[in-house]
Amino acid sequence: MLPKKIILDCDPGHDDAIALLLAHGNPNIELLAVTTVVGNQTLSKVTHNALCVARIANIRDVPFAAGCHRPLVREIKNAPDIHGETGLDGPSLPEPAMRLDARHAVDLLIDVIMENPPKSVTLVPTAGLTNIAMAARKAPQIVERVKEVVLMGGGYHKGNRSAVAEFNILIDPEAAHIVFNEKWPLTMVGLDLTHQAQATPDVIGEIARIKTRSSQFVLDALKFYGDRYREHQGFGYPPVHDPCAVAYVIDPTVMTTQKVPVNIELAGTLTTGMTVADFRFPPPEDCHTQVAVKLDQAKFWQLVIDALKNIGETVY
Ligand code: BDR
Ligand code: CA
Repeated sequence: MLPKKIILDCDPGHDDAIALLLAHGNPNIELLAVTTVVGNQTLSKVTHNALCVARIANIRDVPFAAGCHRPLVREIKNAPDIHGETGLDGPSLPEPAMRLDARHAVDLLIDVIMENPPKSVTLVPTAGLTNIAMAARKAPQIVERVKEVVLMGGGYHKGNRSAVAEFNILIDPEAAHIVFNEKWPLTMVGLDLTHQAQATPDVIGEIARIKTRSSQFVLDALKFYGDRYREHQGFGYPPVHDPCAVAYVIDPTVMTTQKVPVNIELAGTLTTGMTVADFRFPPPEDCHTQVAVKLDQAKFWQLVIDALKNIGETVY
């Protein structure tokens, strides 16, 4: 089987960092590019973090580019409550060894999609959708050309930044509206699914046995992130959202999905940023959206652990 080509659009972020390690460490993924966008912290902080994680995992020869520094319309609201002042508080980070690609992330996204064969590139956004929306507006031909979009964001029954809205969607709902309304196949890996991916003591124990820089980084990241999730959202163990989207690309049997039309609320007084899924009727023929429902937890964590083992020890 040929590896699946992906572009990871992210805002590291503890769980974004693990998503990056999973993508790099899994042999069924070819990581074509990593693009960053404002989100968990400022653009410069999350971009720096992405480059630090690249060094931890010994990622080379993959272009990294910085994208949009603010949402399309609204003021930015970062997430220091969960990710700290740096966006990746907790682990000690090495200095980046790699330089950023000179292109804006939106241009890198477009170039990579257009350079690769039609329907071969999967977009995996694990942050606000500003870069992806900008790319779709700047180069509408990419919509036909990408294979699919598999994003972490939203939730059909759950919110985390409001009663009904999830952070990645609420941070830039107009961008999300653009992305969900383009006709590419789109899988929403939302909170309904990612709250099933909690890093329990058993999982932590398995990661601790690997004993490499990358595994130690994950342990330190999960310690900080777990404490914040306990304090601010009342979770016993932290939900590790973003790697779930990568896991679905690696092996779609890691979760069940359901086809359903989804749209984004832009004008609610209480519901802005809600991913409104209409379950009333069987999905129409041309329904291009589906939502993730049930996670095979054992399979998911095995993918993460195998990726960390594959990355092995790194030297710097
Ligand atoms: C999402 O928000 C961010 O804080 C995480 O990185 C994840 O992408 C979860 O709501
Ligand atoms: Ca994220």
